[in-house]
Formats: sequence, structure tokens, C-alpha cells
Amino acid sequence: MDKRPAVLFVCLGNICRSPLAEAAFRKAAEDAGLDAECDSAGTAAYHIGAAPDHRSIAVARQHAIDIGHYQGRQICADDFTRFTHIFALDQNNLEDIRSAAPPHSPAQIQLLMDVVPGREGESVTDPYYGDETGFDETWRDVSCAAAALVNQLRR
Ligand code: 4NP
Repeated sequence: MDKRPAVLFVCLGNICRSPLAEAAFRKAAEDAGLDAECDSAGTAAYHIGAAPDHRSIAVARQHAIDIGHYQGRQICADDFTRFTHIFALDQNNLEDIRSAAPPHSPAQIQLLMDVVPGREGESVTDPYYGDETGFDETWRDVSCAAAALVNQLRR
């Protein structure tokens, strides 16, 4: 059986926050030598097949990460067995994921910022309707969570 951690990051549209969480986690895991499967998804179907928002692509590029090839998808039933950990970017996403989860889902479902000591219960603010500065804040939040999560999974 595959004992690697398998981590899914979930926001609403899968074009702003969760692709950045995926990118930050991939980089942090690679830097730490952690072997983990990773993906992202949205609770909504609005952006299936779409590239990330151009402002997410730009902020990732500022950190030397290319996410232009990522494609939006919606969370599906298989995700609850494929992934060991499912992280919601905000409280609404968490409620929607829990409602979609099959009974007795083995995946651990929680809020992403719960992995950051002192920031438990916080949501990553949706930057979609704001300006670029919101995407910088998103990057700070998800990279902080990615570092904490890699440390947690290595233990
Ligand atoms: P995300 O941001 O959930 O971080 O990907 C959003 C993207 C699109 C929409 C809302 C939030 N939308 O309403 O289309």
C-alpha cells in the first residue's frame, strides 16, 4: 500500500488560492525531501479545465514557480479515498467539503490554517474580487501553512 501522504487543497474556484497552496506545498516538500502526492480542487464547477487566475500565476512566478499549466477541477467522491489529508482554504469550503464527504470518509478533513500554530480556525481570504495585494497575502498564508505542514508530515 502507498504510505505516502497525499494532500488535497480545496477552495471555491480552484483558480486563486488552492493552486497557490498546491504550488507552495510542492516546493516546500521538494526542498525538504518529503515524498508526497499533492493536488488542488474547487468545491464549485465554475472553472473546470481553466488555468489559474493570471494574478495567481504572477505571484507564483515571483517565487520562481510556474503554475500556468495547472487546470481547475471540482472535488469528487474519489478524492475522499485517494487523499489522506484534505485542506479547506476557508470555513465555507470546509463545510461544503464535509457535506460532500461520503460517510466514514478515511481522509482527514480540516482547515488549512489549523496547521499553523497560533492561526488555528483562520480562513485564507478569497482574493478574487480584490487587487494584486490580496494575492501577496494569499501567498504569505499558504507558504506559511505549507512549511508547517511539511514539518508535521515529516515527523
Ligand atoms: P478561489 O477564488 O476560490 O480562491 O479560486 C475564486 C475564484 C473564482 C470565483 C470565486 C472565488 N468565482 O466566483 O468565479
